[in-house]
Amino acid sequence: MPRQSLPDAAVKPAGAVRVERIGNATLYLGRCEDVLPTLATVDAVVTDPPYGIKENGRRVRSRGTSSARVRRMTVTDYGDFDWDEQPVSREIIDAIRRQSKWQIIFGGNYFHLPPSPCWLVWDKLNTGDFADCELAWTNMQTAVRRIQFHWNGCMRKEREIPREHPTQKPVGVMQWCLQHLPADVGEVLDPFMGSGTTGVACVLRGLPFFGIEKDARYFDIACRRIEAAQRQADLFVSLPPAEDPADQRLADLFAEPQP
Ligand SMILES: C[S@@+](CC[C@H](N)C(=O)[O-])C[C@H]1O[C@@H](n2cnc3c(N)ncnc32)[C@H](O)[C@@H]1O
Repeated sequence: MPRQSLPDAAVKPAGAVRVERIGNATLYLGRCEDVLPTLATVDAVVTDPPYGIKENGRRVRSRGTSSARVRRMTVTDYGDFDWDEQPVSREIIDAIRRQSKWQIIFGGNYFHLPPSPCWLVWDKLNTGDFADCELAWTNMQTAVRRIQFHWNGCMRKEREIPREHPTQKPVGVMQWCLQHLPADVGEVLDPFMGSGTTGVACVLRGLPFFGIEKDARYFDIACRRIEAAQRQADLFVSLPPAEDPADQRLADLFAEPQP
């Protein structure tokens, strides 16, 4: 694929309100339709665009459990946002596909995309009123794959990671997605970065990452999470193999999940 160098992070591309460079991650605050045309092509896009199912704002507070007592204890108020009123437009999906060689697009069942032999299925082992699975469309020519990763209101894996976005993906699921990309992928772009989960997974895998997010509140959360992941990754690069079981448990927490 033709490769041009991406704009130096010190140079703010037209359309970006702010640019932050964190290790090998470059984060743009702005709308992806404005920022994407200023970027070069990338090897892969891994993203989770708005599905248009109104999973934003305060509505999300009342879902996930039937128990009012548990709800009071566990729900997070993410404030009022309007980004999930409409599914992302066909033009943006087409632009993403033109700008990258490989794509993994969550919510692919909501968008105009061609048939694919390889969908990635995240089975949430759900017993509540949320969807049982989420589907990511890919343009890879391999088979359908599934991960079982418990995500059911407050009953979920990764409970140690705070939920700071109403549709925040688990890091483990995004790490699993990255494992399906061809081995020669050299960088990943997420044009709907939200709280930066794709970026965290890329940093932990040592993959250069580019992220775009239009909401300053989420952008700041993504910067903070990606910075923390970078520190974590640096720590494990510089540490000898853990001898203390407690250290090993911490290392396991950030290890890639087995499919
Ligand atoms: C489904 S959420 C992504 C959540 C993310 N996967 C995470 O784990 O936090 C979609 C995000 O896209 C952002 N967004 C919506 N329209 C956008 C646009 N045109 N350009 C950039 N970001 C946009 C929203 O603010 C929202 O944070």
